Amino acid sequence: MKDYDNIHFGVDYYPEHWPEERWKEDARLMAEMGLGVVRMAEFSWHKMEPREGVFDFSWLDRAISLLGSYGIKTVLGTPTAAPPAWMVNKYPEILPVDSKGITHGFGGRHHDCQSNALYRERCRIIAGKMAERYADNENVIGWQIDNELGNSHSDFCHCSSCRKAFQDWLRKKYGNIDSLNKAWGTAFWSQEYNDFSEVYTTKVTAVGENPSQMLDWKCFHSDLINDFAKNQVDIIRKLAPNQFITHNYMGFSDLVDYYELGKQLDFVCHDQYPLGYWYPGGKCENYDLAAQLDVIRSFKKKPFWIMEQESGIAGSGSMGRLPKPGQIPMWALQSVAHGADAIVFFRWRTCTQGTEQYWHGILPHSGIPGRSYDEIKTMISKVTPVMKEIKGAMPNNKVGIIYSFKQNFAFQIQTQSVGFSYISQLLKYYKMFYDKNIPVDFIAENERLCGYELVVAPLLYLMNENMASKLSDYVENGGNLVLTLRSGVKDDNNICMSDAALPGLLSKVSGCKILEYDPLGSQKVEIEVGEKRCIGTRWADIVLPDGDTEVVARYASEFYKGEAAITRHKFGRGSCWYVGTEGDEELYELLLMDIKSNTKINSGFNKQADIEIVSREKSGVSYLFLINHSDKEVSYTEMGFGSAEELLYGERLGKLAPFEVHIIKKSK
Ligand code: GAL
Ligand code: ZN
Repeated sequence: MKDYDNIHFGVDYYPEHWPEERWKEDARLMAEMGLGVVRMAEFSWHKMEPREGVFDFSWLDRAISLLGSYGIKTVLGTPTAAPPAWMVNKYPEILPVDSKGITHGFGGRHHDCQSNALYRERCRIIAGKMAERYADNENVIGWQIDNELGNSHSDFCHCSSCRKAFQDWLRKKYGNIDSLNKAWGTAFWSQEYNDFSEVYTTKVTAVGENPSQMLDWKCFHSDLINDFAKNQVDIIRKLAPNQFITHNYMGFSDLVDYYELGKQLDFVCHDQYPLGYWYPGGKCENYDLAAQLDVIRSFKKKPFWIMEQESGIAGSGSMGRLPKPGQIPMWALQSVAHGADAIVFFRWRTCTQGTEQYWHGILPHSGIPGRSYDEIKTMISKVTPVMKEIKGAMPNNKVGIIYSFKQNFAFQIQTQSVGFSYISQLLKYYKMFYDKNIPVDFIAENERLCGYELVVAPLLYLMNENMASKLSDYVENGGNLVLTLRSGVKDDNNICMSDAALPGLLSKVSGCKILEYDPLGSQKVEIEVGEKRCIGTRWADIVLPDGDTEVVARYASEFYKGEAAITRHKFGRGSCWYVGTEGDEELYELLLMDIKSNTKINSGFNKQADIEIVSREKSGVSYLFLINHSDKEVSYTEMGFGSAEELLYGERLGKLAPFEVHIIKKSK
């Protein structure tokens, strides 16, 4: 693999949007601010293949070599998220069809069917041509496949090619149609099939839908996107074995199973937009930003890149807030703190044309460097030596939260209660730890748990014997587990289990039973924890503890007042909590206190003001990041750092200027 050890900062560059005479000035300014890499070409299909089979890479050659002469390397994106007009006109069958049967047209991006054989072939051809041409180019270090796979494809695609692909996928999974009928419970409403060829995609129906079919559809769709990527990965690996292959993920985006996708990639990337115009408060919450970074690191359990780090106002039709002085560098360093080894900013210069005219880059429309340029430049010169030193460092976390795409799919199909969402439940637990500076990893359902002191497994709705015994073995051998409402409800086919009371296969380890539950929606129920009163919402399991199970919290209103809401069960050498409701912040705080007093979980760092504290470790040295998320100066007290060295400012240890970050190096 070509060496990319010296790459720490870069930018997404679209030379094709600007006159070529300007490129040199761009390259000069980039080099001057210390950028070492650009990503290019991920939407430039027409520029590279203006007519079917006619290729023109001359402009890209010139851009790559000009940038190379300034010491800037290139990551090339395959342009398959934007098939050109000639292709769509000639092969209209590559356009995607939504669940209402409407074909989506040309004029935006992602107007492609990912199963269509002809489209796959066109993708192979362009990726192959690019790989052939640039495999040995000394300035090209790697590849990004497509762009944000899953983005805009949520309701796609229901064309005849996708229907056939779905049927083939089902045939492979079930072998014969009787097994499918059983797995999907098709006896309900006369949905039995005589043959796989009768099965439809999940188009809109007159009323209702089959949850088992929906679950398979979502899993199929995830596999399809993965396979769409593989189509290109295979050819690039073959032709350009010395360059890395990656992809830009979108945090908790849930169309494609990112753990699976990651298996094809050398490392994963993420696109981070803290001031996205879609956030109700004008800004993504600090804990949510941190969670997105942690989940990205967790997909491959290794450091990652940010392929698009916000560098200015984010917007298309309407725009988000203007970043305050220091915010852009702070967020870049937050990404580093959670495991990013390189930060590529989106984008170089604000575009004058097209959908994203108001998605601001490092340079404004005028191309004249301003505040964003200066702030990022200063940050890069200060931080580059540290980036070199910490490259490859990882956190050593003792808490894991299970994050499963399939469980999430099942809740998307049946939300259980008004306002209920899998990801927001997950984030409640994440925040419970974040607020106390306890760092966490996310873990896949099939991962080993034994390295973790505590595993939080929210909403294990779909359950099977293997998973249940893995969890109870973990606790029996000294692990600590938090289970929640809606666990052990269904089998893997999304059929309700009926062999035992809830939580079914998890009853033994949790030491409790649920015979009745109350889907609260947005209604509230009072909860009592010792002397303290809190609130539960969305859901209330009436938890019946077994004889040896402790009650941690009880309901304090409704007819089930006095019944248990949260329990703790000692099982083997570990403990298992069962949380029957969605709490307010105070309830989670009290739950965490109970967890702390029964486990070895402790952060060692008290939460101070708006300071986020995270660390990365390498060869017996830990790098502790203190991140000031506020626009005020904040002090932090010495937290056992002793004579530890602050890598960015040295003597100013103890006080963080607005949006400032300190990195404290400490040998263990
Ligand atoms: C990302 C995408 C980029 C650009 C950016 C700003 O989602 O990968 O191509 O669209 O957002 O909108
Ligand atoms: Zn299709």
